[in-house]
Amino acid sequence: MKSNIALIGFMGTGKTTVGQVLATRLHRKLIEVDAIIAKMAGKPIPDIFRDNGEIYFRELETKAIKKAAAREKQVIACGGGVVLNTINIDRLRETGVVINLTASLEIILKRIVKDGENRPLISVNWPPERIKELMKFRRPFYDRAADFVVNTSKLNVETVADKIIDRLKNDESFNF
Ligand code: S3P
Repeated sequence: MKSNIALIGFMGTGKTTVGQVLATRLHRKLIEVDAIIAKMAGKPIPDIFRDNGEIYFRELETKAIKKAAAREKQVIACGGGVVLNTINIDRLRETGVVINLTASLEIILKRIVKDGENRPLISVNWPPERIKELMKFRRPFYDRAADFVVNTSKLNVETVADKIIDRLKNDESFNF
């Protein structure tokens, strides 16, 4: 039986905020993969990208996912690029249900601008066209990885959590 809930999706789709609500409502621990990575490296994510580069970040990400997926009954909020390495998804799917959160480009842009400098892969100065390209490139990775999708563009966090919980209740492979 699977007992973890893994949230994947592009930056700004609400993985962490939805993860927090799910964890509270289901009395589970929230694991933020980016936080594990920052702890492993001893520095914040933007500093890892700046000092060590993306490849090193991805290596730490794979180690962090291995660690997170080995535990039970947690909500795992992944970083947006987790889908780029299939081993991450294989591991998440072994012990959990994988949910892809999506949002429109407009909503993602708004949320990213609000978060400012925390996203080394896309600066606030990036033109929307470039973010759109990255979303387009990644879309098949998210689609392939997910058990199901929730579009968070027009929903508040509680409603997104309701939808996820409803789906999980009807999933016989999931252990509440
Ligand atoms: C990344 C997304 C970030 C973080 C890192 C790389 C990505 O997480 O892991 O900056 O490749 O999409 P969020 O999706 O939580 O912003």
